[in-house]
Formats: sequence, C-alpha cells, structure tokens
Amino acid sequence: MQRELSLEIVRVTELAALASARWMGRGEKNEADAAATAAMRAMFDSVSIKGTVVIGEGEMDEAPMLYIGEEVGNGEGPEVDVAVDPLEGTELVAKGLNNALAVIAVANKGNLLHAPDMYMEKLAFGPALRGKLSLADPLTVTLEKAAALLHKNIADLTVSILDRKRHADIMGTLRRVGVRIKLLSDGDVAGAIAPAFPESGIDLYVGSGGAPEGVLAAAALCCLGGELQGRLMPADQSELDRCASMGITDPHRVLTMEDMIGREDVIFAATGITPGDFLGGVRYLPDQRAETHSLVMRAKTRTIRFIRSLHYLPNKPLLV
Ligand code: FBP
Repeated sequence: MQRELSLEIVRVTELAALASARWMGRGEKNEADAAATAAMRAMFDSVSIKGTVVIGEGEMDEAPMLYIGEEVGNGEGPEVDVAVDPLEGTELVAKGLNNALAVIAVANKGNLLHAPDMYMEKLAFGPALRGKLSLADPLTVTLEKAAALLHKNIADLTVSILDRKRHADIMGTLRRVGVRIKLLSDGDVAGAIAPAFPESGIDLYVGSGGAPEGVLAAAALCCLGGELQGRLMPADQSELDRCASMGITDPHRVLTMEDMIGREDVIFAATGITPGDFLGGVRYLPDQRAETHSLVMRAKTRTIRFIRSLHYLPNKPLLV
C-alpha cells in the first residue's frame, strides 16, 4: 500500500464525522448512522484502491451501503480489504455523549479477519504490556501481572469496560481485586484503543463487545504498538455456522493480532464525532467552517499522525 493512501483514507473518515455530527443529541441514532454511511460511501469513490468491504454495515441484504462484499474505491489502486464503522457509537451521537468515532482500517487483500457480527471477548493494552498478557489467563492473574509490569499498586490500575449486565462476573472480580474501573456506556473501539494513549489514564480494556469492532481496534493497536486479543462468543448454532462459513474453524480459540489483521501492513484512520479520550469532536465554527480531529497511522512505519482540519462547508458537495 502506498503511504499516500493514509491521507486519502482520513479524508473519508472526516467526511463521515462531519455528516454524522449534525445529528448530535437528536435521539436518532439510525439517522446519524445513515448520514455517516452515505458520506463515507460517497467519499470512497475518489480513493485510489480496488477495495472490498470485509467489515461493514451488514450483509448485502440488510445494508444499502458499505455492506460486506461491496467494492469501494475508484478501482485504480492496490487490491485491499476495507473495514469500516462510519459511526462507531450510534447511541453516543444520539445522546451527545463522548467517544463516537468514524473509523476505517485498510490492509492488503486477504489480511483482515471477516469478523462475524457477534460478541467478542477482548483484552487490550498498550505497548508496555505487549506480548506479556494472555486472554487465556484468569482475570485476577492478568491484573496482577499488569500491575507488576507497570510498576503500579493494583489499586492504582485503571481498567475500562462496557457497562453491561453480561459483565456482572467480570465487574465482581475487578471490584474484589480493587482496581479502578472506568465504565463506558458504548464505544468499545475507543475503549480498546485508549490504553495505548498514556494520557487516557487507562491501563487495560476488558469484557465483550462487537467482533467487528475488535478487528478495527486491533488494527489501531497494531499501529500504536499495543495489543488486542479476542475470543468469539457464538451464542447459538446459527452463530457457530456463521463462524464456519467465514472460515473460522475453531471459534473458541484466542485470536491474536495476526489472526485479525494479518502479518502485513495496515492503515487505520479515525475522526472524532463527539469529543473523546484521544480525539476532539467535530466543532462548528463561524463563517461556515467546521473543525475535525483525526488520527491516522500505519503499522509498517508506526507513524502516528494527529490531524486537525478546518473545513469550509460550502466546498463539501458530498455533505448533504
Ligand atoms: P453501535 O455503533 O453499532 O451502536 O455500537 C456501539 C457499541 O457500544 C460498540 O462499540 C460495541 O462493540 C457494541 O456496541 C456492544 O454491543 P452491546 O451494546 O450489545 O453491548
């Protein structure tokens, strides 16, 4: 993949964020998602790739745009797998809460895991812990190891998790062990990436969220030098069949970074829609300008770019 592709991709997440941010606080998550998706789809037409959506808005029969298998790009560049979440955190935008993102990951064809739409158990952490923790360990062991490796008292360790009833057992363990806990109402891409940013104050991300979001976060963490391990959680026979049809023969094994994003290069871009732990949200400014904050990175070079853009909205014909 050419390095210029990073900047083309971030233009796509910027437009999705600008489209979706108009819906902040309006209680209409589907409209916010549709706006982000339409903008992202339209912008892809100018990107020099022969892309195939491997993680998207759903199957062809359930999503009008950016569905799994859809071809995106102008067909002139490299053949790539594309994972998108035009609006990650639909409820966050609907309620005007923090950490909604527009997200894309791109890798050479055949590298991104075609993660089925089901839950995935996750363990994510930053560079200081890379290669040193395992999702296969009991959580208490992981917490003790993390505290020791980070030279922290266990009571000073901060763990982030989605606030869900299904996490009652994990929450019980975290509270018994005595770590600090940051509960998230939604948005586990931002949640899983946060430990790689020291300023977030988060050491570990645990618990289950969407499997597609797990692959997107793994792409980001690869560029950041962190790590995400995942384990699919098929809930019934139909989800087991779904795993098999996607070529996942043992759905219960721990998935490594290599399983999720391959061994080659990956590009990750995200633009903040609402403000978050590591990116600002869209701000509307005087004179028809809007400001966006994005992160764009590439695994091969590990360059991390924060891009602040000031857009002139009348010159954005694809924004409707
Ligand atoms: P959406 O953007 O699709 O609303 O997803 C938000 C989210 O919080 C994801 O970040 C997370 O992976 C998933 O929902 C968790 O699902 P659930 O709300 O069922 O626990």
